[in-house]
Amino acid sequence: MINTNVQSAINDQIKKEEYSSRLYLAMAIWCEIKGYPGAAKFLYDHADEERMHMLKLVHYVNDRGGKAQLVEIEQPTSEFESLLDVFEKVMDHEKFITESINQLYEIALSEKDYTTSNFLQWYITEQLEEENLFNTILDKIKLVGNDKAGMFHIDKELDGMVVAPAPTE
Ligand code: FEO
Repeated sequence: MINTNVQSAINDQIKKEEYSSRLYLAMAIWCEIKGYPGAAKFLYDHADEERMHMLKLVHYVNDRGGKAQLVEIEQPTSEFESLLDVFEKVMDHEKFITESINQLYEIALSEKDYTTSNFLQWYITEQLEEENLFNTILDKIKLVGNDKAGMFHIDKELDGMVVAPAPTE
């Protein structure tokens, strides 16, 4: 049976991953209507990936004899100033998620729940990969500035990008 404090912390993370999915969906919609189809596709895919992060936690809690809880989530912002603004907000959000995963890991360790610590290793690696990728994307966007041709090229590149490989479980 999963420790109550750990379960509560994972349920909180479930909410955050669900919010992430909704946030990236809002960003994808903005990109699509503003004429960035590549960025839109990338962010729609990323929204799906966050849902997968959420589901992985849901199954984990249930499989350990607990019960995943869904709660109300706040409405993400749906207006952005530019593609740079979108990806700066993605980066800020991912840093927040990394911090949250680290805190969750700390809680699992303090409760001596080594099974959960082990499970969370996947998320720790995932956050590292995501932050690296978003840093690369941000650098590219900053480099082109307001150059329309450069932005068009970045949008094309985003079309083929994958956030992270599919999980093995
Ligand atoms: Fe679920 Fe983008 O971290």
